[in-house]
Amino acid sequence: MRKAVYPGSFDPVTSGHLDVIERAARLFDRVIVAVIRNPEKSPLFSFQERMDMLKASVPHCDNVAVDSFDGLLVEYVRGQKACAVVRGLRAVSDFDYEFQMALTNRRMAPEIETVFLMTDYRYSYLSSSFVRQIAGLGGDVSGLVPDPVARVLAAKKQRKG
Ligand code: PNS
Repeated sequence: MRKAVYPGSFDPVTSGHLDVIERAARLFDRVIVAVIRNPEKSPLFSFQERMDMLKASVPHCDNVAVDSFDGLLVEYVRGQKACAVVRGLRAVSDFDYEFQMALTNRRMAPEIETVFLMTDYRYSYLSSSFVRQIAGLGGDVSGLVPDPVARVLAAKKQRKG
């Protein structure tokens, strides 16, 4: 049983994240999408909202579970008995941060491998922060996020009036 953890803040989950989840699910027997409860940057969406949007986005992936963690990622991965951390890579700009994080995690837990999946070119420009910005300014985010997330954002917009 090869298990992988795909961690992130998912504030909110985007179509790019979903693409990585679907491809990781084809590579591993089980994928746990792990939402960090308290990210360093304070999130726009509450922990519960981020979890709910993710859960609503992956019902078609049989071997994917959504869970949460706090503290050190490698400790969580060890606790789950997973062999790998999955991260998406969009462009060169992601590389420095991801490389640093992977090496830091390897230093702490050499038995855990970080596996990078290149995001599909259709989503290579996409980020949660732009989605937050567009949605916050009343723009249309359909296609940029999974449909259930687009519905949550549209409902939020309506409530704001
Ligand atoms: O989606 P993000 O915000 O890029 O995800 C970053 C995340 C949550 C994967 C990263 O911040 C993380 O692993 N935090 C847990 C704390 C930790 O283990 N830090 C040491 C390695 S950098």
